[in-house]
Amino acid sequence: MTDYLDFQADFANAEVAETFDDLSYWSSMFGQLLFRHLPLAPRLTCLDVGCGTGFPLLELADRLGPTCTIHGIDSWDHAVERCRLKARVRGNTNVQVAHGNAAKMPYDDSFFDLIVSNLGMNNFDEPAAVMAECRRVCKPGGRIALTTNLVGHMSEFYRLYEQTLIDTGNADRVAQLQQHQAHRATIEGLHDLFSGAGLEVTDHHTDTFSLRYADGSAFLRAYLSRVGFLDGWMSVLRGTGREARVFEDLEARLNRKSREREEGLCLSIPAAYVEGRRP
Ligand SMILES: C[S@@+](CC[C@H](N)C(=O)[O-])C[C@H]1O[C@@H](n2cnc3c(N)ncnc32)[C@H](O)[C@@H]1O
Repeated sequence: MTDYLDFQADFANAEVAETFDDLSYWSSMFGQLLFRHLPLAPRLTCLDVGCGTGFPLLELADRLGPTCTIHGIDSWDHAVERCRLKARVRGNTNVQVAHGNAAKMPYDDSFFDLIVSNLGMNNFDEPAAVMAECRRVCKPGGRIALTTNLVGHMSEFYRLYEQTLIDTGNADRVAQLQQHQAHRATIEGLHDLFSGAGLEVTDHHTDTFSLRYADGSAFLRAYLSRVGFLDGWMSVLRGTGREARVFEDLEARLNRKSREREEGLCLSIPAAYVEGRRP
């Protein structure tokens, strides 16, 4: 079959432009780690857990080709709609997306050969329940691969945040800040998550990405910071009414640190790829 030879890019179609920007920079960093290690083969039935607006689901559909079927599930209804739109515009006919909770999936037992999750497990309220579901819907011998950021995430920022708390008379909030940092994944915790669900860990890799900003003012106002992290940072000070005062001071410190270095503000993002197998 040479059906792909008939393809005509339709740049006059507004939906093509709307869906062309299909991936955030943040997700793509972890996606690079995922696709560096993920086993790829024809004739697989796959699942992307927490597929959001379509990553890695749609990339996976392209990487695996038409002999594979790729399912995705996400609890965010608008993201699922956008993902379906992208699949239609791109002509990914082997993609199916469900709106639902990954802790209770609408799939038969032993249905999938390969299950992936990019930045999913670190966002789920019940990661152990989701892993148990992944085991249930995975075929014996099937693979489950996930990526996540790790403890140590943005350590340069958190060091300055902690010092700011102390210097602004909020030392009683340092414990909350440390607790907030500690909620991130560790390699040992990820191994426990797999083994707790009855899965064997077969492979893992770590890497550290750099996220650079001109200065602290840019970093604190960046869309990624506001959408992904601001709520957690603010939770440390909840109820004090001192958020504005502390963040003003913190911004000035971040800006001073940025001026000291040619690369501006450079944040470390430790990341992991962990792959397991259902025995
Ligand atoms: C950080 S986003 C990652 C999205 C995408 N995989 C990516 O790499 O861009 C986490 C996703 O998990 C979804 N999510 C959170 N809890 C969920 C649950 N219980 N069941 C299904 N999806 C969930 C969110 O709606 C969100 O789309």
